[in-house]
Amino acid sequence: MKSKILVTGGLGFIGSHTVVALQEQGYEVVIIDNLSNSSLDVLAGITKITQITPEFENMDLRDKEAVANFFEKYPDINGVIHFAASKAVGESVENPLLYYENNLSSLIYILQHLSQKEQASFIFSSSCTVYGQADTLPIKEDAPIKKAMSPYGNTKQIGEEIIEDTCKVHPAFKAISLRYFNPIGAHPSAEIGELPIGTPQNLVPFITQTAIGIREQLSVFGNDYPTKDGTCIRDYIHVMDLAKAHVVALKRLLDNSSEKNYDVFNLGTGKGNTVLEVIQSFQKSTGEELSYKVADRREGDVIAAYADTNKANSVLNWKAAYNLDEALKSAWKWEKKVMKIEKKH
Ligand code: WQD
Repeated sequence: MKSKILVTGGLGFIGSHTVVALQEQGYEVVIIDNLSNSSLDVLAGITKITQITPEFENMDLRDKEAVANFFEKYPDINGVIHFAASKAVGESVENPLLYYENNLSSLIYILQHLSQKEQASFIFSSSCTVYGQADTLPIKEDAPIKKAMSPYGNTKQIGEEIIEDTCKVHPAFKAISLRYFNPIGAHPSAEIGELPIGTPQNLVPFITQTAIGIREQLSVFGNDYPTKDGTCIRDYIHVMDLAKAHVVALKRLLDNSSEKNYDVFNLGTGKGNTVLEVIQSFQKSTGEELSYKVADRREGDVIAAYADTNKANSVLNWKAAYNLDEALKSAWKWEKKVMKIEKKH
């Protein structure tokens, strides 16, 4: 049996899919989650897929003592994938201190333990939001880091800097920051997927909730951008591809096959799609008619962002395998499943 891995935020959207991918590669998993943005149904979903129930600690990483007790209880854990963070851009603007406290103190408390170990491997959930509106597309990892457009984005930038500085003084501590573009879709079994609480902020869950009748109509936030059809461009990556990349990145550190003890990788498909293209792809791949209208631009949106994936392709030997149609189909299958569950309750 391979080493035991801690996955913080492991009951979240990307976290749960990564736990499945880790278990399928033979890793034992311990999840820390405070259930602030998830539920125990996700633990049941993971178990249904892999027939293995991960160990689960319901705790808040802002509790320094609880974090110390955790690492005492699990002294053999030296691999961590850290997802746990608040991630709503708009909410972070209204409540910055909540974001700085939650996203940064939890990171610091974990690093304080890992950096003292003989050797430790750490994967950090970062985001393409650190680039802001990049000057050059597709975006490479050495693109300039722009002033964050939100406290959420700033916690990702600061988080990367905290990790990099820790690596500089602890050579036995190895870390990788993974900058996600736009994660979408769900596990093909539809046992786990994206569970937005309240009104979805992101495009794809809003599309699937509109198609299933929970939302009246999708608003397309602006069609007067300098793009092929006037709507913003993003790099939509299937969550299954993203999960696999985390396992590959962690293995690289556990196997000590990286001469650098800190590195950064963009995780995207390398392809950009406009909002209207996503709508067309959804309608074509599901056969569902989507009701939408054009509305005003959304504050803080960048015009276009899609990844240069050469570094992850060559160094991690990882490449996104799913296309947009497949990702949207999986999101729709999941939405119908969630609806059925909700109807039962
Ligand atoms: C995508 C496009 C919207 C909703 C955010 C975070 C980023 C990451 C991914 C965490 C944009 C348009 C959206 C709607 C719309 N999260 N849109 N109508 O903003 O690219 O990235 O989620 O790491 O950090 O910033 O994703 O899905 O919100 O928007 O027209 O109802 O869809 O304007 O062009 P975004 P998104």
